[in-house]
Amino acid sequence: MDPKLVVVPDALPEKVFTTERVGISRATHEAHLGLYKGYANKTNEIRTALANMEIDPAKANQIYSEMRALKVNYAFAYGGYINHQVYFETLGGEGGPATGDVATLINESYGSFERWLADWKATGMAGRGWVFLGYDHAEQRVHTYIGDAQDTFPAWNHTLLLAMDVYEHAYFLDFQTARMKYIDAYAEVIDWDAVNARLPK
Ligand SMILES: [Fe+2]
Repeated sequence: MDPKLVVVPDALPEKVFTTERVGISRATHEAHLGLYKGYANKTNEIRTALANMEIDPAKANQIYSEMRALKVNYAFAYGGYINHQVYFETLGGEGGPATGDVATLINESYGSFERWLADWKATGMAGRGWVFLGYDHAEQRVHTYIGDAQDTFPAWNHTLLLAMDVYEHAYFLDFQTARMKYIDAYAEVIDWDAVNARLPK
């Protein structure tokens, strides 16, 4: 069976590189693209392996088995692919206060944009890998979440609207270990039009 494969990105949207104005460099993004490609390639490798494997439930094992290795690492690979896709899709804008329907949703959940931004930055300092803004279809509200790894998704029934990478590879070249400086810079280059475009219609 032929698996459906994800598109391996060969370049980043040009607008991403406008983050140089706040100190997030082209060199950082170009190195980061290599990692993003890695998640895409491994997603496709695992999809292909799953499509071609001889499936025998008797051989599956929770301690170690081929099925376990493929399924656990699939969530990591595809999670990493989606997280980076959303990170780069929503980067390279004007920053500042949210606009459009996302602004309304943020105000409903957090009272004000300022309170949401404080929450977002604090969540960024508290997380080990990612900060996510998710739209909860059940409650029709937005929430920020910590993602401690590529495969630690916030909750079921959410659409990912915004993803901030806080792994050191996203900022060490430009800010060394000063993560807060990176997060402050990041807030100035969020593309709110792109965030709004991710909202379910
Ligand atoms: Fe990353």
